[in-house]
Amino acid sequence: MRVLVIHGPNLNLLGERDPEIYGRQTLAEIDSSIADLARELGVEVQSVQHSSEGAIVDALHGARNTCDAVVINPGAYSHYSYAIADAVAAIRIPVVEAHLSNIAAREAFRRISVVAPACAGSVMGFGAASYLLALRAAVETARARGGP
Ligand code: DQA
Repeated sequence: MRVLVIHGPNLNLLGERDPEIYGRQTLAEIDSSIADLARELGVEVQSVQHSSEGAIVDALHGARNTCDAVVINPGAYSHYSYAIADAVAAIRIPVVEAHLSNIAAREAFRRISVVAPACAGSVMGFGAASYLLALRAAVETARARGGP
Protein backbone atom coordinates (compact mmCIF):
# COMPACT_ATOMS: atom_id res chain seq x y z
CA MET A 1 0.00 0.00 0.00
CA ARG A 2 1.22 3.46 -0.92
CA VAL A 3 0.15 6.69 0.75
CA LEU A 4 0.95 10.21 -0.44
CA VAL A 5 1.18 12.92 2.24
CA ILE A 6 0.67 16.43 0.87
CA HIS A 7 1.66 19.45 2.95
CA GLY A 8 0.26 22.74 1.66
CA PRO A 9 1.54 26.33 1.75
CA ASN A 10 3.57 27.72 4.65
CA LEU A 11 3.98 24.31 6.26
CA ASN A 12 7.62 24.31 5.14
CA LEU A 13 8.09 26.96 7.86
CA LEU A 14 6.90 24.71 10.70
CA GLY A 15 9.12 25.08 13.74
CA GLU A 16 9.51 28.83 13.25
CA ARG A 17 5.93 29.77 12.21
CA ASP A 18 3.59 30.51 15.14
CA PRO A 19 5.04 27.71 17.31
CA GLU A 20 2.39 28.32 20.01
CA ILE A 21 -0.23 27.29 17.42
CA TYR A 22 1.61 24.82 15.21
CA GLY A 23 4.26 23.43 17.58
CA ARG A 24 8.05 23.45 17.47
CA GLN A 25 8.61 20.46 15.24
CA THR A 26 9.97 21.13 11.78
CA LEU A 27 8.36 19.64 8.69
CA ALA A 28 11.37 17.31 8.33
CA GLU A 29 10.82 16.05 11.88
CA ILE A 30 7.12 15.49 11.25
CA ASP A 31 7.91 13.66 8.00
CA SER A 32 10.34 11.46 9.87
CA SER A 33 7.62 10.49 12.42
CA ILE A 34 5.27 9.79 9.51
CA ALA A 35 7.91 7.55 7.90
CA ASP A 36 8.40 5.68 11.23
CA LEU A 37 4.66 5.04 11.52
CA ALA A 38 4.48 3.95 7.88
CA ARG A 39 7.16 1.32 8.56
CA GLU A 40 5.21 0.13 11.60
CA LEU A 41 2.01 -0.13 9.52
CA GLY A 42 3.83 -1.83 6.65
CA VAL A 43 2.97 0.82 4.06
CA GLU A 44 5.03 3.01 1.73
CA VAL A 45 4.71 6.72 2.26
CA GLN A 46 5.91 9.70 0.27
CA SER A 47 5.67 13.23 1.67
CA VAL A 48 5.63 16.35 -0.50
CA GLN A 49 5.16 20.05 0.25
CA HIS A 50 3.65 22.39 -2.32
CA SER A 51 2.99 26.08 -1.89
CA SER A 52 0.86 26.51 -5.00
CA GLU A 53 -2.71 25.37 -5.48
CA GLY A 54 -2.04 23.98 -8.96
CA ALA A 55 0.83 21.82 -7.74
CA ILE A 56 -1.47 20.35 -5.07
CA VAL A 57 -4.15 19.62 -7.69
CA ASP A 58 -1.49 17.95 -9.89
CA ALA A 59 -0.22 15.87 -6.95
CA LEU A 60 -3.77 14.66 -6.23
CA HIS A 61 -4.29 13.73 -9.88
CA GLY A 62 -0.96 11.87 -9.92
CA ALA A 63 -1.86 9.95 -6.77
CA ARG A 64 -4.99 8.48 -8.34
CA ASN A 65 -2.90 6.05 -10.40
CA THR A 66 0.07 5.51 -8.11
CA CYS A 67 -1.27 5.54 -4.54
CA ASP A 68 -3.95 3.86 -2.46
CA ALA A 69 -4.70 6.82 -0.16
CA VAL A 70 -3.75 10.43 0.48
CA VAL A 71 -3.27 12.49 3.65
CA ILE A 72 -3.51 16.21 2.94
CA ASN A 73 -3.07 19.38 4.95
CA PRO A 74 -4.13 22.02 2.42
CA GLY A 75 -3.14 24.88 4.81
CA ALA A 76 -5.08 28.08 4.13
CA TYR A 77 -6.37 26.63 0.83
CA SER A 78 -8.62 24.47 3.00
CA HIS A 79 -10.82 27.49 3.56
CA TYR A 80 -11.46 28.52 -0.04
CA SER A 81 -9.97 26.22 -2.67
CA TYR A 82 -12.78 24.66 -4.67
CA ALA A 83 -10.09 23.47 -7.12
CA ILE A 84 -8.52 21.29 -4.41
CA ALA A 85 -11.96 20.17 -3.21
CA ASP A 86 -12.87 19.18 -6.78
CA ALA A 87 -9.58 17.31 -7.24
CA VAL A 88 -10.16 15.36 -4.00
CA ALA A 89 -13.70 14.53 -5.13
CA ALA A 90 -12.47 13.51 -8.59
CA ILE A 91 -10.09 10.79 -7.43
CA ARG A 92 -11.39 7.48 -6.17
CA ILE A 93 -8.82 6.78 -3.47
CA PRO A 94 -9.59 7.86 0.10
CA VAL A 95 -8.25 11.27 1.11
CA VAL A 96 -7.94 12.21 4.80
CA GLU A 97 -7.58 15.88 5.75
CA ALA A 98 -5.19 16.76 8.58
CA HIS A 99 -4.71 20.02 10.46
CA LEU A 100 -2.25 20.68 13.24
CA SER A 101 -4.55 23.22 14.88
CA ASN A 102 -8.23 22.87 15.69
CA ILE A 103 -9.56 25.05 12.87
CA ALA A 104 -13.07 24.86 14.37
CA ALA A 105 -11.82 26.84 17.37
CA ARG A 106 -9.92 29.58 15.50
CA GLU A 107 -10.72 32.75 13.53
CA ALA A 108 -14.05 32.71 11.66
CA PHE A 109 -12.38 32.38 8.24
CA ARG A 110 -10.60 29.20 9.33
CA ARG A 111 -13.65 27.45 10.76
CA ILE A 112 -14.87 26.16 7.42
CA SER A 113 -12.93 23.73 5.27
CA VAL A 114 -14.36 23.54 1.77
CA VAL A 115 -12.10 20.51 1.18
CA ALA A 116 -13.49 18.52 4.14
CA PRO A 117 -16.78 17.43 2.51
CA ALA A 118 -14.84 15.75 -0.31
CA CYS A 119 -12.62 13.84 2.14
CA ALA A 120 -13.17 10.48 3.80
CA GLY A 121 -12.68 12.33 7.10
CA SER A 122 -10.66 14.98 8.91
CA VAL A 123 -8.31 15.00 11.89
CA MET A 124 -7.54 18.34 13.53
CA GLY A 125 -6.18 19.87 16.69
CA PHE A 126 -3.60 17.30 17.76
CA GLY A 127 -0.48 19.02 16.47
CA ALA A 128 1.89 16.73 14.58
CA ALA A 129 -0.09 13.75 15.88
CA SER A 130 -2.94 14.81 13.55
CA TYR A 131 -0.81 13.55 10.65
CA LEU A 132 -0.17 10.21 12.38
CA LEU A 133 -3.84 9.72 13.20
CA ALA A 134 -4.72 10.71 9.63
CA LEU A 135 -2.23 8.18 8.24
CA ARG A 136 -3.77 5.41 10.36
CA ALA A 137 -7.24 6.46 9.19
CA ALA A 138 -6.16 6.60 5.53
CA VAL A 139 -4.61 3.11 5.68
CA GLU A 140 -7.64 1.63 7.47
CA THR A 141 -10.04 3.25 5.02
CA ALA A 142 -8.08 2.07 1.96
CA ARG A 143 -7.90 -1.47 3.40
CA ALA A 144 -11.62 -1.46 4.24
CA ARG A 145 -12.33 -0.47 0.63
CA GLY A 146 -10.40 -3.50 -0.56
CA GLY A 147 -6.99 -1.92 -1.15
CA PRO A 148 -3.76 -3.92 -0.85
C1 DQA B 1 -3.54 24.65 9.14
C2 DQA B 1 -4.68 25.62 9.50
C3 DQA B 1 -4.85 26.67 8.40
O1 DQA B 1 -5.88 27.59 8.76
C4 DQA B 1 -3.57 27.44 8.21
O2 DQA B 1 -3.71 28.35 7.14
C5 DQA B 1 -2.39 26.55 8.00
C6 DQA B 1 -2.25 25.38 8.85
C7 DQA B 1 -3.28 23.64 10.29
O3 DQA B 1 -2.61 22.65 10.02
O4 DQA B 1 -3.70 23.86 11.42
O5 DQA B 1 -1.51 26.83 7.21
O6 DQA B 1 -3.93 23.90 8.00
